[in-house]
Amino acid sequence: MTVFTTSHFADHEQVVFASDAETGLRAVLAVHNTNRGPALGGCRMWAYESEEAAIADVLRLSRGMTYKNALADLPWGGGKSVIIADAKTDKTPEMMRAMGRAVERLGGRYIVAEDVGTTPDDMLAVSAETAHVRGVKGVGFDPSPATAFGCFVGIKRSVEERLGRANLEGVKVAVQGLGHVGYDLAQQLRDAGADLVVSDIDEGAVARAKTELGATPVPFDQIYSQDVDVFAPCALGAILNDQTIAQLKAKIVAGSANNQLAEERHGQALADKGVLYAPDYVINAGGVIHIYHEGADYDRQAAFGHVGRIAETLGEIYERAAKNGEPTHVAADRIAEERFANAA
Ligand SMILES: NC(=O)c1ccc[n+]([C@@H]2O[C@H](COP(=O)([O-])OP(=O)(O)OC[C@H]3O[C@@H](n4cnc5c(N)ncnc54)[C@H](O)[C@@H]3O)[C@@H](O)[C@H]2O)c1
Repeated sequence: MTVFTTSHFADHEQVVFASDAETGLRAVLAVHNTNRGPALGGCRMWAYESEEAAIADVLRLSRGMTYKNALADLPWGGGKSVIIADAKTDKTPEMMRAMGRAVERLGGRYIVAEDVGTTPDDMLAVSAETAHVRGVKGVGFDPSPATAFGCFVGIKRSVEERLGRANLEGVKVAVQGLGHVGYDLAQQLRDAGADLVVSDIDEGAVARAKTELGATPVPFDQIYSQDVDVFAPCALGAILNDQTIAQLKAKIVAGSANNQLAEERHGQALADKGVLYAPDYVINAGGVIHIYHEGADYDRQAAFGHVGRIAETLGEIYERAAKNGEPTHVAADRIAEERFANAA
């Protein structure tokens, strides 16, 4: 296979293959860009169907973290790691320690954290071998409340931009997914006076939102076509596609889900339809911002104050998109590129 010429390679500074015969570790660690500081990004454990698939994934995700960390205004570059294994059957503390040694060999150029397939317990095992780790059990916190708060301020800023309204009183919001982030966000929206329409495949979560938040439940396949001001996707990726965009009545899409655009062109499709799209990696950065602030000297006010600046970043993106007549996801990428290039 080729690596240097794949589209996601995008000038990665360093890509390292790590293995440990004793524990069965097979991992790829990617450092995309360290202009702003050490490359932070999670460690994903996944039973990839091929090594090519693992490499493509780590490169794509690592590059994405450079953009995310730059727009989150963090002194961090972007990186990522993947372990080729099944998290349910293959993972052992010894394997995670071997991963910790692989991280340590990068000498601080890469900081690892949890991701799909890894947990705070795993980061505790990693921390036995390296200090370059975040989200360690007992030290880190659940990032979801910070992610939810970032989405809340992002929705407020987007409503101001698209609807010209300074508050959320009576604004109708459809929340897809009432998990760790979605439920917390729904609560904040309700407290701010918004009317909620919700959907989740978990009937218990929906029933709770109905009773506690006065939300109106709708079947999960009808959430896209609701007559609302804001659609807040907080469940799955790739939910902005040809089928769903055609159904949207919302004027704003702003939520926590990762990789919301099924394809790049769907960002343009939203703009063509007059829908203001809050780029997912900008509005959902509350969690990574919070990770930056964790530690012995944790200051909740400072951490959440930093998360609140997501609103200003979105404002900058919306201004640039309007000025250049480009979709918001393109404007976001350009601002991120300027930030990490200028930090060199
Ligand atoms: N937790 C964080 O701090 C964080 C940070 C950045 C991005 N995100 C992203 O935000 C999203 C939500 O994260 P989370 O931590 O709340 O996850 P979660 O697993 O706690 O919640 C997801 C919810 O979506 C529901 N769901 C699944 N399929 C659905 C469907 N078809 N229709 C409606 N609901 C459905 C699930 O039942 C669950 O309640 C994910 O895409 C995640 O990658 C989360």
